[in-house]
Amino acid sequence: MKTVLALETSCDETGVAIMRGRNGYSNSELLSSEVASQIAEHEKYGGIVPEIASRNHLVQAPRLLERATRAARIEMSTVDAFAATSGPGLASSLMIGASIAKGLAIGFGKPYLAINHLEGHLLSPFFDNGELKPNVSLIVSGGHTMLVEVHGLNNYRLIGRTVDDAAGEAFDKVAKLLGLGYPGGPEIERRARGGDSARFDLPRSMLDSENFSFSGLKTAVRYLLPKLRGDFLADLCASFQQAVIEVLVRKTMAAAQKYNVDLVTVSGGVSCNQELRRQLGNACARDGFEFKSAEAWLCTDNAAMIAFAAFLRLRAGFGSTVTEEIDPNLPLIAAG
Ligand code: KG4
Ligand code: ZN
Repeated sequence: MKTVLALETSCDETGVAIMRGRNGYSNSELLSSEVASQIAEHEKYGGIVPEIASRNHLVQAPRLLERATRAARIEMSTVDAFAATSGPGLASSLMIGASIAKGLAIGFGKPYLAINHLEGHLLSPFFDNGELKPNVSLIVSGGHTMLVEVHGLNNYRLIGRTVDDAAGEAFDKVAKLLGLGYPGGPEIERRARGGDSARFDLPRSMLDSENFSFSGLKTAVRYLLPKLRGDFLADLCASFQQAVIEVLVRKTMAAAQKYNVDLVTVSGGVSCNQELRRQLGNACARDGFEFKSAEAWLCTDNAAMIAFAAFLRLRAGFGSTVTEEIDPNLPLIAAG
């Protein structure tokens, strides 16, 4: 039996999770996962303030470590490996989780694993059974939008990415324009229910490319807004959401066809969106692809996905080094 403890502090959520294998590093079982959100602290500034985020991680992480070990009914000294998100993310936030995990690893004489946040998202649809299969993976979060060809663990090829805003960023920015709260994704989804998604003709950008662009869509909403009168919020939210979803679904399906996989996966905060899951699931069923998404609680930032990635890496025999540094711009796929 092996136990892994992971910290996630790449942005504004502090996460600690503990995972155990029933037979060495296989058959992973989540023992606890604690997340503390800082949304309230940043809301009044209209965005994330890095120094506030790192100070909060420093306050929250020890509390969550205590809660997570108590919920898992384990002693810290019995943990076999410590992991933390090493990037991409805010440097000062990443440093907190990585420093704590390294300190624990050094203190208890155990391995330290640096985990890529994007790999955490990308693997999360396999959390239920751990059997990673080749797939075309759509990662849609607040900071990233990418399509990846997944051949196996640590064997990824980038298909396309956003050239400007991430999909989640577009949701957040449009929500701000509409005077809605942060994060904007859930706010827009809620208001889009019952709205007419065909009422406003919003742009679908770069349809012929494997890359994405969402800033034109945001600008289109900005120019449209002053012209609108009366009751338009639900229709505008539905039209905007549909414009994003249509682009995501179309490019994902084109990639699945082109790269000849049987499976399509989706992960990241935006994949909480029920309408995106429904439309992508339907497109996969129509075109004969299997479809997998993580459960909603695993889609937004959390440490369980980091523990899971660490687990799969340990199982596959990947090494670890306590000297591995954080990297705010850590790519999912190393260049060269
Ligand atoms: O993965 P995540 O928690 O953090 C990053 O790694 O960026 O993603 C957060 C993003 C935010 O932009 C948020 O607005 C978006 O995910 N999001 C959603 C929904 N829930 C969260 N977007 C659309 N619909 C949702 N239901
Ligand atoms: Zn994320």
